[in-house]
Amino acid sequence: MRKWTLLGMLCLSLMGGAVAQEVSMVKLPPPDMRGGKPLMQVLHERHSTREFSAKPLPQQELSNLLWAAAGVNRPQTGQRTAPTARDWREIDVYVATADGVYLYEPVGHALRRVVAGDLRARTGVQDFVAMAAVNLIYVANFERMSGADSEQKSFYSATDSGFIAQNVYLYCASAGLGTVVRGSLDREALAAALGLKPQQKIILAQSVGYPK
Ligand SMILES: Cc1cc2nc3c(=O)[nH]c(=O)nc-3n(C[C@H](O)[C@H](O)[C@H](O)COP(=O)(O)O)c2cc1C
Repeated sequence: MRKWTLLGMLCLSLMGGAVAQEVSMVKLPPPDMRGGKPLMQVLHERHSTREFSAKPLPQQELSNLLWAAAGVNRPQTGQRTAPTARDWREIDVYVATADGVYLYEPVGHALRRVVAGDLRARTGVQDFVAMAAVNLIYVANFERMSGADSEQKSFYSATDSGFIAQNVYLYCASAGLGTVVRGSLDREALAAALGLKPQQKIILAQSVGYPK
């Protein structure tokens, strides 16, 4: 994965000692919006996969996948490939790979590393999760859902995550990748591992990789 340092090294002087903290960003290549299989063929081939090879996703594949999931398809408004209730855009896509967990930033089409290390196994309760090249985690930020009561927040964030998950299913069917969306996960433990705030709620996870 090509990496570049956004702010270089942030040097913080704490308690008289120097602490260096790297802010790691991965700028993704532009998504390839040409081609893909015809829609009716993709619908014919869509299915869940639960056996993955260890092969990582090339960066272009990851770029295409994330853009399909929740990328900006109208730069003038910042609106997305997936619909979102009241245009709240409350779902953040976290990406767990072998070398860390990243937050996908649709504007800028980049990944911001939030946790170092391989946390893939902690994104679910099924064995294949540790093997899939990436595990996407759909996290609702309830702070963005202005005017919604708690029932509406739960309902619309679940609905909006479903659209993202289906975009991923369709992209994977087109690209020959395997995927399965997952509701069975230890949300409390994963939220702690990701350092989420109380208003951030994990809705679903989705494994993606090359089928075995
Ligand atoms: C909201 C939701 C949650 C799901 N959770 C899991 C899960 O935790 N683990 C899993 O293996 N599959 C999960 N699935 C996948 C379903 O089991 C799968 O879609 C279903 O068996 C139909 O198979 P198909 O996707 O191949 O059509 C989930 C699907 C949905 C829509």
